Amino acid sequence: MERTLVLVKPDGVQRGLIGEAISRFERRGLRLVAAKFIKVGNELAESHYAEHKGKGFYDGLIAYITSAPVMAMVWEGPNAVAAVRQTVGSTKPVESAPGTIRHDFALEVGRNLIHASDKPETGEREVALWFKKDELVDWARAVDAWVFEK
Ligand code: RTP
Ligand code: MG
Repeated sequence: MERTLVLVKPDGVQRGLIGEAISRFERRGLRLVAAKFIKVGNELAESHYAEHKGKGFYDGLIAYITSAPVMAMVWEGPNAVAAVRQTVGSTKPVESAPGTIRHDFALEVGRNLIHASDKPETGEREVALWFKKDELVDWARAVDAWVFEK
């Protein structure tokens, strides 16, 4: 089953949107695998955003993600990466579709509330970066057969 890393970023936590985000992923049918509430250090922030090193927004991005606690989660399901990105909406909130989290609650790219892995390979890398193997819960829901075809 495909897995994706989701962060409710510091602005989402400060604005009381952890529950809103979790609720949307739950209602979509995705299955929670792991969750932890942490203050992110520079080392983790820099590994997580390594692809953006050198870009103009990089320093601000590291300052943003380390500024206050985040809610880190792993969600799984068929096409979990694409499903979560769709529920989250486009990177720039003013370009995101109505009904997405970024559309409904955000205005600026530098305060866009949620991180979600952008490809299945990124999802695997990010899950391993943020969580130890024994923090990932292997479980089934009674409702799984009504959400997952196989
Ligand atoms: P994320 O990684 O946080 O899920 O967001 P994303 O894939 O939609 O966007 P990405 O291109 O990976 O950018 C990572 C985060 O950097 C900030 N950003 N700021 N000022 C800017 O032009 C700019 N561009 C990106 C955003 O917080 C974005 O989510
Ligand atoms: Mg990204």
